[in-house]
Amino acid sequence: MKIGKTIYHVKSCSSTNDIAKELILHGAEEGTVVISEAQEKGRGTKGRQWLSIPRKGIYLSVILRPQKTDVSILPLLAGVAVIDSILESTGIRVYLKWPNDIVWDGKKLGGILSESCFAGKHLHYFILGIGLNVSHLKKDFPEEIRDFATSLRLISRKSMKKDALLEKILHTLNLWYDIFLESHARKIIRAVENCSPFSSGDIIEVETSRGQETGVYQGIDSHGRLILEIQGEKRSFLATEILSPIQKKGE
Ligand code: BTN
Repeated sequence: MKIGKTIYHVKSCSSTNDIAKELILHGAEEGTVVISEAQEKGRGTKGRQWLSIPRKGIYLSVILRPQKTDVSILPLLAGVAVIDSILESTGIRVYLKWPNDIVWDGKKLGGILSESCFAGKHLHYFILGIGLNVSHLKKDFPEEIRDFATSLRLISRKSMKKDALLEKILHTLNLWYDIFLESHARKIIRAVENCSPFSSGDIIEVETSRGQETGVYQGIDSHGRLILEIQGEKRSFLATEILSPIQKKGE
């Protein structure tokens, strides 16, 4: 059990990813976890904020230092671990909308923010930041995101045992991380595809730095890239190329 051997619990912080970076500077070992009850400057992807109301959500970061350079599937792996944990703990089936959105019924439930540092080809560290809306009520979300965000409490209409879910997430993350270290990328990709809200053949729209692209969803490749068929040609997209999350045409 690597992940969670050392856990730092804090009441509040700017961002658990920032604490993880500080811990790395002080030599924190692989698998060290930071959990905060709240974040003052929680970060989402694409420079967005991550709403981090005290005790309502799970806000955690994991420090990883695998002896591998192809780490691009790690955020997807984290998504699968969170989704498996939610299913096992609550019976609720949620989905991983590539590359980092945890969704239910088209609404955002959580997300993954990964930050890495390489020295040349050598991976110095990889931080997996996981945010999950657990006990939020509708009024807890600011009006502008109220119709697009959800929480496990809103989905299940029951109060949630956050600590038990946290424990489950760390346990499941360990299982999937071992699969990654044993180089079973295909198994991870299969799981990612099984967690996808899309099926092969769906028409998908992505917003990239070169503009909007529409194509037929063909799955995820072994590097975690999205594969779309566009005008009869297979194209793969890196998560970093995508400006806004994928949308199913007509959604
Ligand atoms: C997203 O935009 O979908 C990613 C959200 C990631 C939020 C988590 S909460 C813990 C960690 N610390 C942060 O500041 N962000 C991530």
